[in-house]
Amino acid sequence: MGESFSGDESPEGWPGHLWCEGRTLVHLKDDQSRPSHMPRGPAAKSGTGFMNPAMAPARTRSVLLLQDALEHGWVNGDRPIRALDALCATGIRVRRWRNEINPQHQHRLHITANDLDTNALDWALASMVSDAFVGNITPIEDEQVQPEFIEQNGIKFQQADARMAMVQGSFQWIDVDPFGSPITFIDGALQALGRVGVLEVTATDTAALTGSSATSGMRRYGHKGIVDLYAHDDAVRVLLGTIATRAAQLDRAIEPILALFDGHHVRVSVRVRKSKQGADRNRELMGWRVRTEGKPYKFTNHPTPEELEQASGPLWIGPLWNEEICSRLTEEYAVETCLAQPSDIERGGSHGLEWADSDQVYAEREIRRSVRHIAQAAPLLSGEHLLLAYDQLPRMAEVGSLPTMERLIDALNEAGHRTARVPDLRPFLATKAPFQAVIDAVRSFESTE
Ligand SMILES: C[S@@+](CC[C@H](N)C(=O)[O-])C[C@H]1O[C@@H](n2cnc3c(N)ncnc32)[C@H](O)[C@@H]1O
Repeated sequence: MGESFSGDESPEGWPGHLWCEGRTLVHLKDDQSRPSHMPRGPAAKSGTGFMNPAMAPARTRSVLLLQDALEHGWVNGDRPIRALDALCATGIRVRRWRNEINPQHQHRLHITANDLDTNALDWALASMVSDAFVGNITPIEDEQVQPEFIEQNGIKFQQADARMAMVQGSFQWIDVDPFGSPITFIDGALQALGRVGVLEVTATDTAALTGSSATSGMRRYGHKGIVDLYAHDDAVRVLLGTIATRAAQLDRAIEPILALFDGHHVRVSVRVRKSKQGADRNRELMGWRVRTEGKPYKFTNHPTPEELEQASGPLWIGPLWNEEICSRLTEEYAVETCLAQPSDIERGGSHGLEWADSDQVYAEREIRRSVRHIAQAAPLLSGEHLLLAYDQLPRMAEVGSLPTMERLIDALNEAGHRTARVPDLRPFLATKAPFQAVIDAVRSFESTE
């Protein structure tokens, strides 16, 4: 092993046992069990060197979005992207960026991986040894003041408080993935982005974001929640609204690229621009969700005093996704980019990876699940839409049975109302149809069956 932050020959517990996430080998600590496929939920253990397998789908989407930005130039044209993983832990995300993004873009991808934890960084550096060498990654010539770093395969690993790492650099892509709330890192990240950049934020404090913990929701996000079927959608919008509000205070505007509630965390990716006018326009997209009579809810900038009790907010009431970008996040694109190839498994085998055919089947399933429904729902979630819980429709339509979700979606689309399933653990659909048209469609099935 080469250099490390602790100066030790190898981190305690090294090399652990091997796993493969995407196309990248992961050294797990011996006391972390081999991940079950499609794990969900919070990390059972979050000590040093612990890699949370439940975050694999979020990391897969991060690889796909960053590759898409390099390919389609929506962040910095055809110029380089400096990407900072501000809380990188054992470096799985940065290694996936390096391994899985198309080699033709790698020379434009300059990566900094930062964390405070010495042992996690040692583990990250040691893990680089088993990575495929993508070759000729030119280090960034920086005039910026940077903390001391150790460079491996063009990735600069550094040990600093994430806020210092942000202050000291200028980046086009920043990932913020803390334990719990990201709130203390948001201002620093916004200011560390160049004229245009992407901020990706993970928040695991879902009780605060949904409003199920009312006091922390109010304290952290100034949010008054209502815990009902819309709590997950609200949580996503509260985080977006918080980022938009902070950005506006810094004369910056946000445009959501992709924003999801994924099991136990919220993950949002937004493009940020320096723009006073854009920031003013963003403010018009802040508002409240009001539960109403006659249809499930409406969005409004300002609820009336009578509406307030049935309102959650303030939150982002604008589009949640970018249609063009999300339309490209197909299952095929995810598999092509992130599914381990025979050569990856062979290389892993030479390091001791045990990988059965069933592992490969499950891995493909998980990669597909990472983006399932996104491309189809992109035209809906990038604009105004009505979000409905499929299993609530019989109650709303006062019928005893439901068509399958697919049949209902087809019927609404055939009637000219764009409709799609949205990615959520619960079956939700998004539609351009008026609420009454959905109810009529549900009832029409009952009368024909
Ligand atoms: C949830 S983990 C990051 C997981 C990682 N992104 C991944 O995908 O495996 C949070 C990390 O934040 C680090 N951390 C906590 N506070 C920090 C701070 N102020 N500055 C830098 N790192 C910090 C911890 O050491 C920990 O490794």
